[in-house]
Amino acid sequence: MLLNARAVAILLAVCIATITTAFLSLTEGVSQMALLVAFMLAFGSSYLLTFITLEFFIFREINRIYEVLNKLREQEYAFTDEGAGPSSNPLKRINQEIYSYASDKQREIEELKRMAAFRREFLADVSHELKTPIFAAQGYIYTLLDGAVKDKTVRTKFLKKAAKSLDGLDLLVQDLLTLSQLEIGQIKMHYVYFDLIRIIRDVCDQVEGKAEKKEIVLRFDANMPEQLWVWADKQRIHQVIMNLISNAIKYSKEESEEPSWVEIKVEEGRHRVKVSVSDNGRGIPQEHLNRIFERFYRVEKSRSKGSGGTGLGLAIVKHILEAHKSRVEVKSVVGEGSTFSFKLKKKKEVAAKPAEKQELIKKDE
Ligand SMILES: Nc1ncnc2c1ncn2[C@@H]1O[C@H](COP(=O)(O)OP(=O)(O)OP(=O)(O)O)[C@@H](O)[C@H]1O
Ligand SMILES: [Mg+2]
Repeated sequence: MLLNARAVAILLAVCIATITTAFLSLTEGVSQMALLVAFMLAFGSSYLLTFITLEFFIFREINRIYEVLNKLREQEYAFTDEGAGPSSNPLKRINQEIYSYASDKQREIEELKRMAAFRREFLADVSHELKTPIFAAQGYIYTLLDGAVKDKTVRTKFLKKAAKSLDGLDLLVQDLLTLSQLEIGQIKMHYVYFDLIRIIRDVCDQVEGKAEKKEIVLRFDANMPEQLWVWADKQRIHQVIMNLISNAIKYSKEESEEPSWVEIKVEEGRHRVKVSVSDNGRGIPQEHLNRIFERFYRVEKSRSKGSGGTGLGLAIVKHILEAHKSRVEVKSVVGEGSTFSFKLKKKKEVAAKPAEKQELIKKDE
C-alpha cells in the first residue's frame, strides 16, 4: 500500500518539525544549530508517535479486516475469533464483530447443510421402508387377481400374507407419526403417579410368548421391589419398556450354547428410580452405540430386516425420555450383551396415605 503508516508518519513529522522550527526561528537569538536540533527532535518524536499510533491502532486493524473479508469472500471459514475480550479500539471491535458474525453464519450454514443431508437421507429411508410392505402386499393381491383367487387354500394364505404386510405398514406409519409428533412437541406427556413394577410386569406378560419361542428366560433382579411409584407418563413409559425388552429379546444370540436371558432391574435412589434392561445377546459394536438412537438406524441392516425392525424403536425411546427430562444410556459388549437404562422421577415420599393411594391407582387407570 502506497499510503502506509511509515509514509504518513514521515509526511506528518516533516510538517510538524517544519512548523515548530519556523516558529522557533521567529524568536531572537536562536542559533542555526539550535534550530536544526529542534527540527530533528520535533521530526523524530512526531514520527515515532504518529507511526506507532497509525501502525498499531489503525493500519494493522484495517489490514486484518481486509484479511477477514478476503477469507469470507473465498468462503474459507476456518478461522477463529482471536480477539479475547472486548477491546477499546473501535477498529479492533469492528474486526471482532466481523469474526463473530462470520463464525455464527458458518455455524448456521453447517447446521443447514446437516439438516439438508438429514432430510435427504430421511426421505430415502422412509420411501425405502414404505416400499417394502407395499410391494409385498401388491404382489399377493395381483397374484390373486391373476387367477390364484380360485384356489381356496392359496387365497386364504395370500390374503393373510397381504394383511400381515399391511399391518407392518400400519405399524411403521404409526411409529413415524409418533416420532414426528414427539419431535415437534405435539405430544404432551400426561404425568401421573403409577406403579412402575406393575407396568414392567405387564410388558413382560405381553412379550412372554415371544421370549418362550426363542427360549429366552425373562427374569427380574432379586432386589426388585414389590411396588415402586413414579411420576411419569404411564403409556409412554410402557412404550419405552416394551421397546427395550422387545429389543433385548429380538437381538439375542442366534446360535448360542448358553441359555439366553433378559433381566430387568429397578434401583431406587433418593429422588429417582433407575430401570435397566440387560441381556446376554449379541451386543452392539462400539462404533454404532451413538447412532442406534437415530431414526432408521440398524446395526446390521440385512439381519434386523429379517426380524422385522425398522430402526425407529430406540429413536422413540430417546424422545420419550427426553420429554421426561431423562435420557437413555447404553453399555454393550459384542458377544456378551447389552444394558439399556434410564431414570424416572420418584413419587414424593410425603405422598398419599393408603386410601389416597388407591384413589391414585383408580385415577391413572
Ligand atoms: N438389546 C440389543 N442388543 C443388540 N442390538 C440392539 C439391542 N437393542 C437395539 N439394538 C440395535 O440397535 C438397532 C436400533 O434399534 P431400534 O429398536 O431403534 O430398531 P429396530 O429394533 O431395528 O426396529 P423397531 O424397534 O423400530 O422395530 C437395532 O437394529 C439393533 O441393531
Ligand atoms: Mg426395536
